[in-house]
Amino acid sequence: MTTTAAPGTATVPGVTIPGPATSYQGDIARYWDHEARPVNLRLGDVDGLYHHHYGIGEVDHGALAADSDAEREERIVAELHRLESAQTDVLLDHLGPIGAGDTLVDAGCGRGGSMVMAHQRFDCSVEGVTLSAKQAEFANQRARDLGIDHAVRARVANMLAMPVESGRAAASWNNESSMYVDLGDLFAEHARILAHGGRYVTITGCWNPVYGQPSKWVSQINAHFECNIHSRREYLRAMADNRLVPQTIIDLTPATLPYWELRATSSLTTGIEEAFISSYKDGSFQYLLIAADRI
Ligand SMILES: C[S@@+](CC[C@H](N)C(=O)[O-])C[C@H]1O[C@@H](n2cnc3c(N)ncnc32)[C@H](O)[C@@H]1O
Repeated sequence: MTTTAAPGTATVPGVTIPGPATSYQGDIARYWDHEARPVNLRLGDVDGLYHHHYGIGEVDHGALAADSDAEREERIVAELHRLESAQTDVLLDHLGPIGAGDTLVDAGCGRGGSMVMAHQRFDCSVEGVTLSAKQAEFANQRARDLGIDHAVRARVANMLAMPVESGRAAASWNNESSMYVDLGDLFAEHARILAHGGRYVTITGCWNPVYGQPSKWVSQINAHFECNIHSRREYLRAMADNRLVPQTIIDLTPATLPYWELRATSSLTTGIEEAFISSYKDGSFQYLLIAADRI
């Protein structure tokens, strides 16, 4: 696929993909076109799987032992990356039975790490959409490098109007990408592209209605990423309104805290670590996996 450099617009031979639908989406396309934080790129360099999401699981402190600061830093990078890939594995675990003939859809695919892992696990086709032409180019180049571009493809498109035929997807997901859109619109679109009985999975940060309202930490995270974190209640309500019936809900908050605490000790900090750690600890923010059946 060919993509142009203009933010959020691209062409595929024979198909012109429209640019961002709103000014906000244009801002988000620009944000991700220019994003090149070491915390994302250095971790991806470990094994060629580039993620823009966080990690889960226990830190292997034995794997961090090192003779020098530089060596310790390398080991922290590898460990953070291992935990980020473990997060994707948990998402993939919840897609249900997927066969080689199936098509999966990654809504907000970033640089494509989750798509590659899905293809490697299921040998299926994976279609991704992102607002960022740079990310789509990057993901498609990785697919070519790995010789899997016949099955893994990223396109510049709006996840609220995906270039996917109705009922085509055996499963679809948002991996930390649902906080950029209205949930009613998003779930209506997933319900459209999913086959009856297909599975939708999201892993997302959400504010906790038990806390009351978005805390100052949640507001800080929104400002940092130019996003709009929804509440757990909004997720469940919007799913119920759109033929998505939760099958599993897992609170991954305790599982993601070790990742953040390790990341805060590295040289790759971005300044947002305190907001995540504090809000997970004071209960105002949660890291959730929700898997739902399309009925
Ligand atoms: C935090 S990154 C997550 C990337 C990827 N899911 C991962 O786990 O590595 C958020 C992604 O959502 C995408 N995104 C945000 N709003 C979008 C929209 N309306 N349509 C398509 N993609 C969108 C961004 O372009 C970016 O790729």
